Amino acid sequence: MLNRTYTEMLKEKDLIFEIFQYARQLAAEIGRDQVYDFSLGNPSVPAPECVNQTITDLVSSMDPLALHGYSPGLGIPEVKADIVRDLNQRYGSSYSPANLLMTAGAAGALAHALRAVSNPGEEIITFAPCFSEYKPYVEGAGLKLTILPADTESFQINFQALTDSLNENVAAVLINSPNNPSGIVYSTDTVRRLASILEEKEKEYGHPIYLISDEPYRDILFKGVDGPYIANLYRNTLTCYSYSKSLSLPGERIGYLAVNPDCAMGDRIIELCPQISRTTGHNGAPALFQRTVALTAGQFADLPVYEENMELLYQTLTEYGYRCVKPGGTFYMFPRSLEPDSIAFCKYAREKYHLMLVPGDIFGCPGHFRIAYCVPTDRVKAALPIFKALAQDYAGC
Ligand SMILES: Cc1ncc(COP(=O)(O)O)c(C=O)c1O
Repeated sequence: MLNRTYTEMLKEKDLIFEIFQYARQLAAEIGRDQVYDFSLGNPSVPAPECVNQTITDLVSSMDPLALHGYSPGLGIPEVKADIVRDLNQRYGSSYSPANLLMTAGAAGALAHALRAVSNPGEEIITFAPCFSEYKPYVEGAGLKLTILPADTESFQINFQALTDSLNENVAAVLINSPNNPSGIVYSTDTVRRLASILEEKEKEYGHPIYLISDEPYRDILFKGVDGPYIANLYRNTLTCYSYSKSLSLPGERIGYLAVNPDCAMGDRIIELCPQISRTTGHNGAPALFQRTVALTAGQFADLPVYEENMELLYQTLTEYGYRCVKPGGTFYMFPRSLEPDSIAFCKYAREKYHLMLVPGDIFGCPGHFRIAYCVPTDRVKAALPIFKALAQDYAGC
Protein backbone atom coordinates (compact mmCIF):
# COMPACT_ATOMS: atom_id res chain seq x y z
CA MET A 1 0.00 0.00 0.00
CA LEU A 2 1.22 3.48 -0.79
CA ASN A 3 2.32 5.66 2.09
CA ARG A 4 -0.57 7.76 3.40
CA THR A 5 1.53 10.69 4.63
CA TYR A 6 3.21 11.31 1.30
CA THR A 7 -0.02 10.70 -0.58
CA GLU A 8 -1.64 13.43 1.53
CA MET A 9 1.35 15.73 0.88
CA LEU A 10 0.75 15.39 -2.87
CA LYS A 11 -2.53 17.26 -2.34
CA GLU A 12 -0.72 20.31 -0.98
CA LYS A 13 0.07 22.63 -3.84
CA ASP A 14 3.64 23.84 -4.30
CA LEU A 15 2.57 27.35 -5.19
CA ILE A 16 6.07 28.69 -5.89
CA PHE A 17 6.75 25.94 -8.37
CA GLU A 18 3.33 26.36 -9.98
CA ILE A 19 3.96 30.08 -10.49
CA PHE A 20 7.42 29.36 -11.88
CA GLN A 21 6.00 26.73 -14.29
CA TYR A 22 3.29 29.15 -15.38
CA ALA A 23 5.97 31.79 -16.05
CA ARG A 24 8.01 29.34 -18.11
CA GLN A 25 5.03 28.33 -20.19
CA LEU A 26 3.97 31.92 -20.71
CA ALA A 27 7.52 32.90 -21.72
CA ALA A 28 7.52 30.15 -24.34
CA GLU A 29 4.26 31.55 -25.74
CA ILE A 30 4.78 35.32 -25.63
CA GLY A 31 8.55 35.75 -25.22
CA ARG A 32 10.81 35.90 -22.17
CA ASP A 33 11.03 39.67 -22.15
CA GLN A 34 7.24 39.92 -21.66
CA VAL A 35 7.35 37.91 -18.42
CA TYR A 36 8.66 39.34 -15.13
CA ASP A 37 9.52 36.33 -13.03
CA PHE A 38 10.36 36.99 -9.37
CA SER A 39 9.12 33.63 -8.09
CA LEU A 40 12.13 31.40 -7.45
CA GLY A 41 15.06 31.72 -5.05
CA ASN A 42 17.64 30.39 -7.49
CA PRO A 43 20.92 32.36 -7.60
CA SER A 44 21.23 34.53 -10.70
CA VAL A 45 25.02 34.83 -10.66
CA PRO A 46 27.33 31.93 -11.55
CA ALA A 47 29.70 30.23 -9.17
CA PRO A 48 33.01 32.12 -9.12
CA GLU A 49 35.79 31.01 -11.45
CA CYS A 50 37.82 29.66 -8.49
CA VAL A 51 35.18 26.91 -8.10
CA ASN A 52 35.66 25.69 -11.68
CA GLN A 53 39.42 25.93 -11.33
CA THR A 54 39.42 23.99 -8.05
CA ILE A 55 37.28 21.22 -9.51
CA THR A 56 39.57 20.97 -12.54
CA ASP A 57 42.65 20.85 -10.30
CA LEU A 58 41.14 18.22 -8.04
CA VAL A 59 40.06 16.01 -10.93
CA SER A 60 43.43 16.23 -12.64
CA SER A 61 45.61 15.87 -9.56
CA MET A 62 43.88 13.39 -7.24
CA ASP A 63 43.57 9.65 -7.41
CA PRO A 64 39.98 9.16 -8.67
CA LEU A 65 39.35 6.37 -6.18
CA ALA A 66 40.27 8.67 -3.31
CA LEU A 67 38.48 11.68 -4.80
CA HIS A 68 35.18 9.99 -5.58
CA GLY A 69 35.16 7.38 -2.84
CA TYR A 70 32.74 7.37 0.12
CA SER A 71 33.57 10.15 2.52
CA PRO A 72 33.58 9.50 6.28
CA GLY A 73 30.06 9.93 7.72
CA LEU A 74 30.89 13.18 9.48
CA GLY A 75 32.82 14.61 6.55
CA ILE A 76 36.42 14.63 5.29
CA PRO A 77 38.68 15.63 8.23
CA GLU A 78 40.95 18.02 6.30
CA VAL A 79 37.89 19.70 4.75
CA LYS A 80 36.41 20.29 8.19
CA ALA A 81 39.76 21.65 9.43
CA ASP A 82 39.82 24.23 6.60
CA ILE A 83 36.21 25.25 7.19
CA VAL A 84 36.55 25.73 10.95
CA ARG A 85 39.76 27.73 10.44
CA ASP A 86 37.85 30.10 8.16
CA LEU A 87 34.86 30.28 10.55
CA ASN A 88 37.03 30.97 13.58
CA GLN A 89 38.94 33.68 11.73
CA ARG A 90 35.79 35.42 10.60
CA TYR A 91 33.71 35.19 13.75
CA GLY A 92 36.22 34.75 16.56
CA SER A 93 34.62 31.40 17.39
CA SER A 94 36.51 28.34 18.60
CA TYR A 95 35.13 25.44 16.58
CA SER A 96 37.22 22.35 16.11
CA PRO A 97 36.67 19.89 13.23
CA ALA A 98 34.90 17.63 15.74
CA ASN A 99 32.07 20.19 15.99
CA LEU A 100 31.23 19.93 12.29
CA LEU A 101 29.11 17.61 10.17
CA MET A 102 29.31 18.05 6.39
CA THR A 103 25.84 17.85 4.85
CA ALA A 104 23.85 17.98 1.64
CA GLY A 105 23.02 21.70 1.85
CA ALA A 106 21.19 23.49 4.64
CA ALA A 107 18.31 21.04 4.21
CA GLY A 108 20.63 18.17 5.16
CA ALA A 109 21.97 20.13 8.13
CA LEU A 110 18.44 20.92 9.34
CA ALA A 111 17.40 17.27 9.01
CA HIS A 112 20.22 16.28 11.38
CA ALA A 113 19.85 19.21 13.79
CA LEU A 114 16.11 18.71 14.23
CA ARG A 115 16.41 14.99 14.87
CA ALA A 116 19.48 15.14 17.11
CA VAL A 117 17.95 17.40 19.77
CA SER A 118 14.36 16.21 19.93
CA ASN A 119 12.12 13.22 20.33
CA PRO A 120 8.96 12.54 18.31
CA GLY A 121 5.99 14.55 19.51
CA GLU A 122 8.07 17.44 20.83
CA GLU A 123 7.61 20.97 19.61
CA ILE A 124 9.71 23.25 17.42
CA ILE A 125 8.91 26.95 17.49
CA THR A 126 9.61 29.25 14.58
CA PHE A 127 8.51 32.75 13.53
CA ALA A 128 6.47 33.98 10.60
CA PRO A 129 7.30 34.76 7.92
CA CYS A 130 9.26 31.54 7.48
CA PHE A 131 10.55 29.27 4.73
CA SER A 132 7.63 27.15 3.50
CA GLU A 133 9.67 23.94 3.69
CA TYR A 134 9.94 24.11 7.48
CA LYS A 135 6.63 22.28 7.78
CA PRO A 136 7.79 19.13 5.92
CA TYR A 137 11.26 19.35 7.51
CA VAL A 138 9.84 19.44 11.05
CA GLU A 139 6.82 17.20 10.63
CA GLY A 140 8.93 14.70 8.68
CA ALA A 141 11.01 14.31 11.85
CA GLY A 142 7.85 13.46 13.81
CA LEU A 143 7.76 16.87 15.49
CA LYS A 144 5.13 19.56 15.88
CA LEU A 145 5.84 22.92 14.22
CA THR A 146 4.43 26.06 15.83
CA ILE A 147 4.71 29.18 13.68
CA LEU A 148 4.39 32.31 15.79
CA PRO A 149 2.81 35.42 14.26
CA ALA A 150 5.11 38.02 12.72
CA ASP A 151 5.97 41.42 14.06
CA THR A 152 5.02 42.98 10.74
CA GLU A 153 6.40 46.42 11.66
CA SER A 154 10.00 45.19 11.76
CA PHE A 155 10.01 41.42 11.07
CA GLN A 156 12.31 41.08 14.08
CA ILE A 157 11.15 38.53 16.67
CA ASN A 158 7.67 38.78 18.17
CA PHE A 159 8.84 38.35 21.77
CA GLN A 160 5.40 38.52 23.32
CA ALA A 161 4.26 35.58 21.20
CA LEU A 162 7.46 33.72 22.09
CA THR A 163 7.13 34.11 25.87
CA ASP A 164 3.45 33.16 25.66
CA SER A 165 4.25 30.00 23.70
CA LEU A 166 7.37 28.55 25.29
CA ASN A 167 6.63 25.42 27.30
CA GLU A 168 8.44 22.33 28.57
CA ASN A 169 7.69 20.39 25.40
CA VAL A 170 9.69 22.79 23.20
CA ALA A 171 12.89 21.07 22.07
CA ALA A 172 14.21 23.88 19.91
CA VAL A 173 13.55 27.28 18.42
CA LEU A 174 14.25 27.49 14.70
CA ILE A 175 15.31 30.84 13.26
CA ASN A 176 16.44 32.04 9.86
CA SER A 177 18.43 35.25 9.56
CA PRO A 178 18.96 36.76 6.99
CA ASN A 179 15.41 35.69 6.37
CA ASN A 180 13.61 34.08 3.50
CA PRO A 181 11.13 35.67 2.62
CA SER A 182 11.48 39.06 4.40
CA GLY A 183 15.20 39.71 3.80
CA ILE A 184 15.38 40.93 7.40
CA VAL A 185 18.47 40.34 9.52
CA TYR A 186 18.10 39.81 13.27
CA SER A 187 20.02 42.53 15.09
CA THR A 188 22.42 41.95 17.98
CA ASP A 189 19.73 43.28 20.34
CA THR A 190 17.17 40.84 18.97
CA VAL A 191 19.47 37.83 19.31
CA ARG A 192 20.60 38.86 22.82
CA ARG A 193 17.01 39.23 23.93
CA LEU A 194 16.10 35.86 22.42
CA ALA A 195 19.10 34.28 24.17
CA SER A 196 18.15 35.71 27.54
CA ILE A 197 14.54 34.45 27.27
CA LEU A 198 15.71 30.98 26.27
CA GLU A 199 18.32 30.86 29.04
CA GLU A 200 15.71 31.79 31.62
CA LYS A 201 13.31 29.13 30.35
CA GLU A 202 16.08 26.50 30.28
CA LYS A 203 16.62 27.13 33.99
CA GLU A 204 12.91 26.95 34.71
CA TYR A 205 12.40 23.69 32.76
CA GLY A 206 15.72 22.11 33.71
CA HIS A 207 16.67 21.14 30.16
CA PRO A 208 18.31 22.84 27.18
CA ILE A 209 16.26 24.63 24.58
CA TYR A 210 18.36 24.46 21.45
CA LEU A 211 18.51 27.24 18.91
CA ILE A 212 18.64 25.89 15.37
CA SER A 213 19.95 28.75 13.28
CA ASP A 214 19.29 28.25 9.58
CA GLU A 215 21.84 30.44 7.78
CA PRO A 216 22.01 29.75 4.04
CA TYR A 217 22.00 33.54 3.40
CA ARG A 218 24.58 34.45 6.06
CA ASP A 219 27.01 35.78 3.47
CA ILE A 220 24.42 37.85 1.61
CA LEU A 221 24.49 40.63 4.19
CA PHE A 222 24.17 44.20 2.94
CA LYS A 223 26.58 47.03 3.75
CA GLY A 224 26.42 48.43 7.28
CA VAL A 225 23.79 45.95 8.51
CA ASP A 226 24.11 44.65 12.08
CA GLY A 227 24.13 40.87 11.53
CA PRO A 228 25.81 39.09 14.45
CA TYR A 229 27.14 35.55 14.26
CA ILE A 230 24.27 34.01 16.19
CA ALA A 231 26.14 31.10 17.81
CA ASN A 232 28.40 33.64 19.54
CA LEU A 233 25.39 34.94 21.47
CA TYR A 234 23.69 31.72 22.59
CA ARG A 235 25.63 28.69 23.70
CA ASN A 236 23.11 25.99 22.72
CA THR A 237 23.18 26.93 19.04
CA LEU A 238 23.29 24.54 16.09
CA THR A 239 24.19 26.45 12.93
CA CYS A 240 22.99 25.16 9.56
CA TYR A 241 24.93 26.60 6.64
CA SER A 242 24.86 26.06 2.91
CA TYR A 243 26.98 27.02 -0.08
CA SER A 244 23.87 27.03 -2.30
CA LYS A 245 23.56 30.83 -2.30
CA SER A 246 27.00 32.12 -1.27
CA LEU A 247 28.84 30.14 -3.97
CA SER A 248 25.80 29.68 -6.25
CA LEU A 249 25.94 25.90 -5.95
CA PRO A 250 22.35 24.88 -5.06
CA GLY A 251 22.40 21.79 -7.26
CA GLU A 252 25.59 20.41 -5.75
CA ARG A 253 24.04 19.92 -2.29
CA ILE A 254 26.78 21.03 0.03
CA GLY A 255 26.70 22.64 3.46
CA TYR A 256 27.38 21.85 7.09
CA LEU A 257 26.00 21.66 10.58
CA ALA A 258 28.22 23.39 13.16
CA VAL A 259 27.54 22.64 16.82
CA ASN A 260 28.71 25.41 19.11
CA PRO A 261 31.74 24.10 21.09
CA ASP A 262 30.02 25.11 24.38
CA CYS A 263 26.67 23.57 23.46
CA ALA A 264 25.05 21.29 26.03
CA MET A 265 25.82 17.68 25.04
CA GLY A 266 27.46 19.01 21.86
CA ASP A 267 29.75 15.97 21.51
CA ARG A 268 26.79 13.64 21.80
CA ILE A 269 24.85 15.64 19.19
CA ILE A 270 27.65 15.11 16.66
CA GLU A 271 27.98 11.47 17.72
CA LEU A 272 24.30 10.91 16.90
CA CYS A 273 24.55 12.44 13.42
CA PRO A 274 25.90 9.40 11.53
CA GLN A 275 23.04 7.39 13.04
CA ILE A 276 20.58 10.00 11.77
CA SER A 277 22.26 9.80 8.35
CA ARG A 278 21.65 6.05 8.35
CA THR A 279 17.93 6.50 8.90
CA THR A 280 17.45 9.39 6.47
CA GLY A 281 19.58 8.01 3.62
CA HIS A 282 21.87 11.05 3.80
CA ASN A 283 25.09 9.03 4.13
CA GLY A 284 27.76 11.67 3.66
CA ALA A 285 27.93 14.92 1.74
CA PRO A 286 29.24 14.87 -1.88
CA ALA A 287 33.00 14.31 -1.66
CA LEU A 288 34.11 16.41 -4.64
CA PHE A 289 32.18 19.42 -3.35
CA GLN A 290 33.38 19.00 0.22
CA ARG A 291 36.90 19.45 -1.10
CA THR A 292 35.88 22.25 -3.42
CA VAL A 293 34.25 24.39 -0.73
CA ALA A 294 37.16 23.83 1.64
CA LEU A 295 39.69 24.96 -0.94
CA THR A 296 37.60 28.01 -1.87
CA ALA A 297 36.78 29.01 1.74
CA GLY A 298 36.27 32.76 1.99
CA GLN A 299 35.40 33.11 -1.73
CA PHE A 300 31.95 34.07 -2.94
CA ALA A 301 29.86 34.47 -6.06
CA ASP A 302 29.20 38.09 -7.12
CA LEU A 303 26.88 38.73 -4.15
CA PRO A 304 26.87 42.59 -4.23
CA VAL A 305 24.63 42.46 -7.29
CA TYR A 306 21.77 41.40 -4.99
CA GLU A 307 22.20 44.56 -2.94
CA GLU A 308 22.13 46.62 -6.13
CA ASN A 309 18.84 44.95 -7.14
CA MET A 310 17.41 45.46 -3.66
CA GLU A 311 18.24 49.19 -3.58
CA LEU A 312 16.70 49.69 -7.00
CA LEU A 313 13.49 47.88 -6.07
CA TYR A 314 13.21 49.25 -2.55
CA GLN A 315 13.73 52.91 -3.52
CA THR A 316 11.40 52.73 -6.51
CA LEU A 317 8.64 50.61 -4.99
CA THR A 318 8.39 52.75 -1.86
CA GLU A 319 8.13 55.80 -4.14
CA TYR A 320 5.23 54.09 -5.93
CA GLY A 321 3.45 53.61 -2.60
CA TYR A 322 4.37 50.03 -1.67
CA ARG A 323 5.10 49.55 2.04
CA CYS A 324 8.09 47.39 2.83
CA VAL A 325 10.59 46.80 5.63
CA LYS A 326 14.01 47.36 4.05
CA PRO A 327 15.90 44.08 3.65
CA GLY A 328 19.32 43.73 5.28
CA GLY A 329 20.36 40.68 3.26
CA THR A 330 19.32 37.73 1.03
CA PHE A 331 17.75 38.29 -2.38
CA TYR A 332 14.16 38.63 -1.17
CA MET A 333 11.90 41.44 -0.13
CA PHE A 334 8.44 41.20 1.38
CA PRO A 335 6.19 44.23 0.81
CA ARG A 336 2.57 44.53 1.91
CA SER A 337 0.18 43.51 -0.83
CA LEU A 338 -2.04 46.28 -2.16
CA GLU A 339 -5.17 44.42 -1.15
CA PRO A 340 -5.60 42.36 2.03
CA ASP A 341 -5.92 39.10 0.08
CA SER A 342 -2.34 38.54 -1.09
CA ILE A 343 -3.29 35.45 -3.09
CA ALA A 344 -5.76 37.53 -5.11
CA PHE A 345 -3.19 40.32 -5.42
CA CYS A 346 -0.50 38.00 -6.81
CA LYS A 347 -3.02 36.39 -9.17
CA TYR A 348 -4.00 39.82 -10.50
CA ALA A 349 -0.34 40.81 -11.02
CA ARG A 350 0.33 37.50 -12.74
CA GLU A 351 -2.66 37.53 -15.06
CA LYS A 352 -2.78 41.19 -15.99
CA TYR A 353 0.93 42.06 -16.02
CA HIS A 354 2.75 38.71 -16.25
CA LEU A 355 4.48 39.70 -13.02
CA MET A 356 5.28 36.62 -10.91
CA LEU A 357 5.11 37.26 -7.17
CA VAL A 358 4.59 34.79 -4.32
CA PRO A 359 1.81 35.40 -1.77
CA GLY A 360 2.87 35.71 1.86
CA ASP A 361 0.32 33.09 2.89
CA ILE A 362 2.72 30.27 2.12
CA PHE A 363 5.26 31.82 4.51
CA GLY A 364 2.69 32.07 7.29
CA CYS A 365 2.23 35.81 6.74
CA PRO A 366 -0.76 36.76 4.57
CA GLY A 367 -1.19 40.33 3.37
CA HIS A 368 2.37 40.43 1.97
CA PHE A 369 4.13 39.13 -1.10
CA ARG A 370 7.66 37.94 -1.80
CA ILE A 371 9.84 39.33 -4.57
CA ALA A 372 12.81 37.05 -5.30
CA TYR A 373 15.13 39.57 -6.98
CA CYS A 374 17.81 37.04 -7.85
CA VAL A 375 17.39 38.01 -11.50
CA PRO A 376 19.63 40.06 -13.83
CA THR A 377 19.52 43.78 -12.95
CA ASP A 378 18.15 44.67 -16.40
CA ARG A 379 15.10 42.50 -15.61
CA VAL A 380 14.61 44.42 -12.36
CA LYS A 381 14.76 47.68 -14.32
CA ALA A 382 12.33 46.35 -16.95
CA ALA A 383 9.85 45.39 -14.21
CA LEU A 384 9.75 48.80 -12.51
CA PRO A 385 7.09 50.31 -14.85
CA ILE A 386 5.05 47.14 -14.34
CA PHE A 387 5.13 47.56 -10.55
CA LYS A 388 4.11 51.19 -11.13
CA ALA A 389 1.12 50.27 -13.30
CA LEU A 390 0.06 47.69 -10.71
CA ALA A 391 0.21 50.29 -7.93
CA GLN A 392 -1.79 52.74 -10.05
CA ASP A 393 -4.53 50.16 -10.58
CA TYR A 394 -4.95 49.87 -6.83
CA ALA A 395 -4.60 53.60 -6.19
CA GLY A 396 -7.61 54.06 -8.47
CA CYS A 397 -9.72 51.58 -6.47
C1 LIG B 1 15.56 29.57 4.58
C2 LIG B 1 16.08 28.39 3.84
N1 LIG B 1 16.50 27.34 4.54
C3 LIG B 1 16.99 26.24 3.93
C4 LIG B 1 17.07 26.17 2.55
C5 LIG B 1 17.61 24.94 1.92
O1 LIG B 1 18.90 25.23 1.46
P1 LIG B 1 19.74 24.17 0.60
O2 LIG B 1 19.18 24.21 -0.77
O3 LIG B 1 21.11 24.62 0.68
O4 LIG B 1 19.53 22.85 1.23
C6 LIG B 1 16.64 27.25 1.77
C7 LIG B 1 16.69 27.20 0.32
O5 LIG B 1 16.24 28.04 -0.40
C8 LIG B 1 16.13 28.40 2.44
O6 LIG B 1 15.70 29.48 1.76
